[in-house]
Amino acid sequence: MAHTVCLIPGDGIGPEVAEAARAVIDAAGASIEWILLPAGAAAAEEYGEVLPAMTLDAISTHQVALKGPVTTPIGKGFASVNVQLRKKLNLYAAVRPVRSMPGVKTRYDDVELVVIRENTEGLYSGIENEITDGVVTSLKVATRKACTRIARFAFNYARERERNRVTVFHKANIMKVSDGLFLECARAVHEQEASNVTYDELIIDNGCMQLVRDPSPFDILLLENLYGDVVSDLCAGLVGGLGVVPGANIGDDCAVFEAVHGSAPDIAGKDLANPLALIMSGVMMLNHIGQIEAADRIKDAYNAVLAEGNTQERTRDIGGTGGTKAFTQALIRRIEAG
Ligand code: NAI
Repeated sequence: MAHTVCLIPGDGIGPEVAEAARAVIDAAGASIEWILLPAGAAAAEEYGEVLPAMTLDAISTHQVALKGPVTTPIGKGFASVNVQLRKKLNLYAAVRPVRSMPGVKTRYDDVELVVIRENTEGLYSGIENEITDGVVTSLKVATRKACTRIARFAFNYARERERNRVTVFHKANIMKVSDGLFLECARAVHEQEASNVTYDELIIDNGCMQLVRDPSPFDILLLENLYGDVVSDLCAGLVGGLGVVPGANIGDDCAVFEAVHGSAPDIAGKDLANPLALIMSGVMMLNHIGQIEAADRIKDAYNAVLAEGNTQERTRDIGGTGGTKAFTQALIRRIEAG
């Protein structure tokens, strides 16, 4: 029976990469009935809302979505659609696997990391006030419930995938109470539920330095919301950039799969976007819904196309001369050739 999946193209390069991902997933023989849904600046123009109720309702009902990026205005305007979506659907864990890709040249050959980010609180609670002219505050919220939940998620993830190290990046030397609680919860889950997994902690500035100097000792990185956002992009830079890193936002009831990158307005509509990050997010989605064979076909196809190194069949961000469509067609040809 076909699985219903909500497809949210989003803004900027979103429609281009969403179209590519859908074509590749369909070519791989996945049994999916797509429902196209609006969100983001494009949705605001048509429906008067950046996150229309129909989109939230459909994800709640069907429980799985593949989402393109959406634009968030800087320093003004509406609250981030992503933050709203994650909070309203309680998608508390962002999971971002970061792996070296065959044929994509970077400083490192064997990066194999997973960034696990708390997705619902921290400074992203959006509680900001102007106390008086020229004085503002921004509230960092940490709750024992959410900190324990994300720590448990990370250790379970490690156990299920036989990974053996979880490292928390924190700034509890300065934010002793909020980051202190994050650490306290991670330590408690480790001691009580996962003492066979190696656990360690690094102050985030030192952690970033160690990551860029040599990422090989790291395995699973566990971070609160803002640090996870920043470190995800840093890690993407280790393996070829934002065009090759997928992601999932997971809750107890729903999951929304999306690339780490944003709407890239600088390259939107120019056939320059690398669709691979969203295609890889689609592979995560197929595994999540149990369509493993289709997921494997896509994975084999992109590994083969990248390993061959034909520059016309890859986008510029990873050293090619081709466009979104040329790469997508190369993947589809490869899948069809078996
Ligand atoms: P961005 O990730 O959109 O772009 C950063 C740089 O990476 C740009 O030079 C862009 O051209 C390049 N890039 C990104 N994705 C690419 C791809 N698939 N292929 C080739 N090059 C790619 O980040 P930026 O410019 O800071 O943000 C743009 C907008 O996206 C903002 O409104 C931001 O709020 C939003 N955003 C949305 C996210 C989401 O919907 N999940 C995540 C991050 C940002």
